[in-house]
Parts: sequence; structure tokens; C-alpha cells
Amino acid sequence: MTLPSLSARIRATFAAPIPTAKAWINRYDGRAGPVVDLTQAVPGYPTHPDLAQRLAEGAESPIQARYGTIDGDEALRSALAGDINRVYGADIAAGDVAITAGANLAFTMAMTVLCSVGDQVMLPVPWYFNNAMALTMQGLEPLALPCLAEDGFIPDPDRAAALLTERTRAIVLISPNNPTGAVYPPEIIARFAKLCRERGIWLIVDESYRDFLSPEIVPHHLFQDPDWRDGVLHLYSFSKAYCVAGHRVGAMVCGPRVRSELNKVLDTMQICPPRGPLPGLTWAIGALDEWKSGNRAIIAERARVFREGVGQLQDWKIDALGTYFAYMRIPDSAKDAMMAAETLATECGLVSLPGPFFGPGQDRHLRLAFANVGLEAIAEVPARLRALT
Ligand SMILES: Cc1ncc(COP(=O)(O)O)c(C=O)c1O
Repeated sequence: MTLPSLSARIRATFAAPIPTAKAWINRYDGRAGPVVDLTQAVPGYPTHPDLAQRLAEGAESPIQARYGTIDGDEALRSALAGDINRVYGADIAAGDVAITAGANLAFTMAMTVLCSVGDQVMLPVPWYFNNAMALTMQGLEPLALPCLAEDGFIPDPDRAAALLTERTRAIVLISPNNPTGAVYPPEIIARFAKLCRERGIWLIVDESYRDFLSPEIVPHHLFQDPDWRDGVLHLYSFSKAYCVAGHRVGAMVCGPRVRSELNKVLDTMQICPPRGPLPGLTWAIGALDEWKSGNRAIIAERARVFREGVGQLQDWKIDALGTYFAYMRIPDSAKDAMMAAETLATECGLVSLPGPFFGPGQDRHLRLAFANVGLEAIAEVPARLRALT
């Protein structure tokens, strides 16, 4: 019997990293204590009770039985536009915002609008693995822009300029970054915007973690450019800031040229975003500022305790630490990051993601998503890491 074939593109896409890492836990016998799972970028605390209540009402609402508008409720688009205007000093309108079933889908949909098969999209490395996967499965090519630990993993616009080719359609910046936590200075983002304008390519800024920056920080000034709508796409996620990852709500902000084509993609790939959560999230924008700033403090405290403990280790180096993540250099004595991550999981009960999931040249690094767990679990991390050496 001849088996029907599968897509060459999907076979070229690497396996889902988090399930791969979580599968290692099955081989851990508990000898070092309970599993400390630092794989996934989710805050390890629940959503606000008042939002949880509204989400429950949304789930029961009869609106759930019907499709909504393809780009989400006007009320949420307008509330998010107002929030963006407050943070960035911008003049975004509800019509610039499309609500999506998560920021990941927003990225895939953006690529569908901007790129044709065979095009390249530049990703600073270490990259967010789902970006690379989304490109490969669409027949697009990730173009690696190496970032260096000694630069704080901030991408260099001059290095980027030298690597762009005729086939490059877009550059993607994630700030605060996954996996390094690096926060890109506004001047660097501005230089990337200039480079993109000069080369006639798109700049995509994924700011899924922007609510974890101090409120006085203006992440960038891209929206001050009167022509931003012809060059910039902004992605946002409600998953982290509002602890609603399972509800799948994100957003894309873009100009009318992208938007008119995006409508085809929205209609086809999502039909509409999940309806139930939208009224609750509309309420939450602005209403939960105090709770969000308390969460920022919780995560900052986790980062502090992580640095204090893990920073004592001789053989492990914290190459970067910020927002949700530490990007660690493994001991010289360890064979490579894949082996180190697997051994840490199966023998020390500490689950992390090995660097090779984050792009080429990352085989001496691990990502530890410390935001996932409370202080007690973070206090366990140094002993688990030490046990590897
Ligand atoms: C940079 C970045 N973008 C997007 C996402 C996914 O967001 P969403 O849950 O809205 O799809 C993540 C999740 O880890 C992320 O780190």
C-alpha cells in the first residue's frame, strides 16, 4: 500500500518544543523532589477574580452560540486602541486594531498577508520558536540575525542591514524578548524602522510582554511616525498580562493596506476571535491597572530571587534575565544544551527548554521561564542546576 504523503513544509518544521520537554518528566523518578517546570511562558498565578467572573458569564452567554465579527468587538478594539495610545502616546483608532485568537495566530496571519512562498523573514536569534515554525510551515524562510550575549542580546541594525537579501520581506522584533527577556531600547527599534523603510520591507513588533515594563517606560516611538501604517505591524497578547492564555485572545495593529487583505485571512483562519472573553477583557483594560502592577512586582521579585540564588553558582552563567525568562549558559563541562536539558529533567526534576529550539548557534544555552512558578520552587533551582555538574 502506498501511504498518502504529508506536506514537505510541515515535515521540515521542527517538533513542538514544549511537549518535547514535558515528555522528559515521565522519566523522572522524583529523587530530587517535586518537578519544577520552567518550560512555558505563563504567569503561575490565576486571573483576577472579577475578570474570572466575567469570563464565566461570557462562557454562558448566548453570544457564544453565534459567530462574531471577523476582527472582534468594536468595544474591545476601541479599548485596546485607547490603551495603546496611553502607553505609546499614539493616535491608534479602533479601525487599526484586529482582535485575533491569540498573538501566535496574529503572527501567522500577518505572514500570510505580507509574504509569498520562498520569501525570507528576519528573526533575531535566539528566536521565538513558534515564529520560526510558523514561517517554515508556510514555505517561508527564517533569516537568522545573530544576537550576542555581550550586547545583552539586543539586535544590531547594521548587522541586520548586511544580511538582508532581495528575498527578505520583513524583520520581526520581540521586546521584551522571548527567550532572553531583553528590552530593546527605543533608539534601536527606531533604527530598525528606518532600515525597513529604506529597504521597503515590513517591521513587525511583537509586544506580548509590554505590560511587564514599568508604566513610565515608552517602549518605542514608532506610532509617532505619520506613515507607520505603511510599514509597521504591532502584535499584542492578552494571555500574559491578564492571565487568560487558555482563552486565546490577542491583537494585530496595522494600517488599511494590510487590513483590507487581512480581512480575507481573518475570515478564513479564525472566522472570529473567541467571543465569550471579549466583554470581560474590554472591562479589564484600565480596570485592572493596580492588579497588573502588583503582578509586575511579583514577577520582579521572582527575577530577583532567581538571580540571587542561581547567580551564586560557579559553573552556570546568567547571560540574560528579564520579564519572564532567564537565558542561561550551561557549564563548560556539559556536553551540549539538549543533553543538559534532558538530564536536568530526567535526573533533577527541573524542566527547561534547550537553546537549539531558539535557533542556530544556541547549543550552550537553556531558557528557564521562572515566571511560571512561585518563590519556593525558584529557591529549589540552584540545587537542581548544581546537581548537573
Ligand atoms: C513573543 C510571544 N508572542 C506570542 C506568544 C503567544 O501569545 P498568544 O497566547 O496570545 O498566542 C508568546 C507566548 O509565549 C510569546 O512569547
